Amino acid sequence: MQREHLKLEHNKYALELGDGPATTHFADLQFVHNCLPEINPADIDISVKLLGKRLRLPFFIDAITGSTDSVIEINSKLAQVAAACGIGLAVGSQYGAVCQGTGIGSYKVVREQNPHGLVIANMSAFVTYEQALAAVDMLEADALELHLNAAQELVMAEGDKNYAGLLQNMQKIFESLPVPLIIKETGCGMAKEQYQQLLEAGFYVYNCAGAGGTNFPAIEAKRSGAVLANDFAGWGLPTCWSLIDGQYVIPAKRCLLASGGIRTAGDIAKAFALGADAVGITGPVLRLVMEEGVAAAIAYFEELEQGLEQYLLLLGCRTPYELRQVPLLISGETRNYLDCRGYAVAALCKARNR
Ligand SMILES: Cc1cc2nc3c(=O)[nH]c(=O)nc-3n(C[C@H](O)[C@H](O)[C@H](O)COP(=O)(O)O)c2cc1C
Repeated sequence: MQREHLKLEHNKYALELGDGPATTHFADLQFVHNCLPEINPADIDISVKLLGKRLRLPFFIDAITGSTDSVIEINSKLAQVAAACGIGLAVGSQYGAVCQGTGIGSYKVVREQNPHGLVIANMSAFVTYEQALAAVDMLEADALELHLNAAQELVMAEGDKNYAGLLQNMQKIFESLPVPLIIKETGCGMAKEQYQQLLEAGFYVYNCAGAGGTNFPAIEAKRSGAVLANDFAGWGLPTCWSLIDGQYVIPAKRCLLASGGIRTAGDIAKAFALGADAVGITGPVLRLVMEEGVAAAIAYFEELEQGLEQYLLLLGCRTPYELRQVPLLISGETRNYLDCRGYAVAALCKARNR
C-alpha cells in the first residue's frame, strides 16, 4: 500500500472508530473539594514553558499526518489553530517525506503558518540519525518525537514486526541530535518498567500517549478487513495509569507529557494532578478541522482553557502544576491497579511528587 493511501486511511478510520474501547480511567479520580480556595482569578497563569518555547495554553496538538500533498490543507489548518491558540503542534510521521521525498509541502506549510510556534518533528524509532536530522531540518523543528508503536505494527498487515534494537537506535539519535528528543507512544501508553529503561538510557522527555483515545490496533484491524474479533482492540495501559507509573520513576526535572484520550478540562486537570508538564490532544482536533474547520478547533481549545482555569480557581491553584498538591480520591479499577503494582494509595492521594 502506498504511503499516501495509508495516511488517508488512518485519518478516515480514526474518525470512523473514535475512542476506545479502552478507557483512560480518569473517571476513577476525583478532586477533594476546597471550600476556601483563597485565590483571585487574576493570579491564575496557565501558560507553560515547554521545550524552549512559551505556550499561552499548556496544550499541544499531537502527531497526525503528512508525507502526502493531499493533507497539505489539514496540516495548514492544524498549524493555524496552533498559532491562534498559542499551543504546540507535532506533525505526523515524516518517513515518506524524508525517505521517499513525498509530500514535503505538507510539512513546510506548518512552519509557514506558524513561524514562531513550538513545532515538533515526528519519526519512527527505527530511523537513522541522518533521517531524524532531516526531519528536524525540514520543519526547523524545536524538538523531535520518536514514536513507539509495537501494537500497531503487530496488527498492521504491512507492519514491521522486528522490535529488537530500538532502545540502542534511539540512544544513538539522542547523543547527537541538536534539539530535544521526545520518546512517544501512540495510544498504548508507557509503563514504569519502560520509563525506567528509558531513564537509564538518558532520555529527558516522555509522552505517555496512553490507551483510552485513538486506538491504532483497532484502526489497523479495520484496515486489514480481519474477520475475527481483534484480540488487541482493548490493548494498552490507560493514560491515567501510565501517568501514575511516571509518578514513581520520572524525576521532577525531566518532562512528562500526558496524552491519549484526553478530551475535557477535567481530564486535563487530572493529568496535571498526576504530574504532567503539558497535555497533548489528537483525535478530536483532527475531527474538528476536517468536519467543521479552524474556528471550531480554536473554540474547542478556548473551552478547554476556560475549563482548566475553573478547576484551578475552585481548587485554589495558581498554575496547573499546583494541582499536584491537591488531594485526590482514587476508586474503581485504578485502585486495583495501584494494589497490583504495589503502590501506596494514601500517599498518592495526598500529593504527587512530580
Ligand atoms: C489519524 C492519526 C494519525 C496519527 N499518526 C501518527 C504519526 O504519524 N506519528 C505518531 O507518533 N502518532 C500518530 N498518531 C497518534 C497520536 O499522535 C496520538 O498519540 C494518539 O492519537 C493518542 O491521542 P488521542 O487519543 O488524543 O487521539 C496519529 C493519530 C491519528 C488520529
